[in-house]
Amino acid sequence: MALMVIGSDRAQDFFETAKKLAPERDIRIWPDVGEPKDIRFALAWRPPAGVLASFPNLQVVVSVGAGVDHLLGDPQLPDVPIVRYVNPDLTGRMVEYVSLHTLLHGRRMLEFQELQRQLTWKYLPEPAAHQIRVGIMGLGVLGQAAARALGVLGYQMRGWSRTSRAIEGMECFSGDAELDAFLNESDVLVVLLPLTPATSGILNRRLFQRLSLRGRHPRLPGPILINAGRGGLQIEADILTSLEAGELYAASLDVFETEPLPDTSPLWQHPRVVITPHNAAESTDESVVAYFLRQVDRAEHGESLENIVDQDAGY
Ligand code: NDP
Ligand code: OXD
Repeated sequence: MALMVIGSDRAQDFFETAKKLAPERDIRIWPDVGEPKDIRFALAWRPPAGVLASFPNLQVVVSVGAGVDHLLGDPQLPDVPIVRYVNPDLTGRMVEYVSLHTLLHGRRMLEFQELQRQLTWKYLPEPAAHQIRVGIMGLGVLGQAAARALGVLGYQMRGWSRTSRAIEGMECFSGDAELDAFLNESDVLVVLLPLTPATSGILNRRLFQRLSLRGRHPRLPGPILINAGRGGLQIEADILTSLEAGELYAASLDVFETEPLPDTSPLWQHPRVVITPHNAAESTDESVVAYFLRQVDRAEHGESLENIVDQDAGY
């Protein structure tokens, strides 16, 4: 019975860490895995399509990421449980990212930085947190944690999910039928959705035009987009068009249609766009590997796996 690490540019580090944390176990790294029938558990990020199907005794796949779109995109994905990564350290980092970027744009910091470069002392009106309505798309582990932190800062919170939810301290909307109502009352749109067939390309101009239509505070120059979900959620040409048209005031993007973001993308140069290299919520090698080993232990002891993906829903 062997464990395998596969399909990640961090695979070697995971492999070394796993050997350190569980020296008694037979751990292998793809493609150097020996007999395919030995492999029972895989730690995977983006394995080449079809490769997981070549392990006839595979029991469980543990995703290196919280998002599993890379795995579910494999048309030959074996019919085994997929466990996604959930970890308080990762959640905390995402909360930092969302708080940082909500504050940054709410306080017009990109404009102040530009004024600083020009040695210009100029007053710009800024709204207070309690005058800004933040809408979170995706009320899962990350969305709810971000909402709690922003609520403490005083923002008016609302959220949107697939199924209906009741969460203290925020107004909740769900499904297509309530999307417009949610958008119309959101000044800052924080996106923490998974990439699924239902969410692909959802961040488009039509959606941006519906943001913040009802009652935005006059001190906020326009709607703000913060996407740390997946690049496939967004249409980048539409983000640029909406920024130019004033339908968006600013954006922070951690994820992109193509990663790394190509040098030719005009997003790099836009004065009110902040770009980060898909690092909103990093995970450490130790925590990913310890989580993987915990799932293996649980499976071996007949205990239920944690955070199993609903493959029909796609997340
Ligand atoms: P969860 O699975 O816990 O939550 C997903 C949320 O999205 C749920 O609230 C779900 O609704 C909602 N949702 C899914 N599909 C739809 C839909 N069609 N319409 C409306 N709402 C929908 O995920 P996490 O919070 O753990 O992570 C979210 C995403 O963040 C990941 O999938 C990943 O893509 C991304 N991520 C990015 C990172 C980065 O560094 N940039 C790091 C980690 C994650 P419901 O509540 O009804 O189920
Ligand atoms: C994840 C990610 O899904 O880092 O965990 O994007």
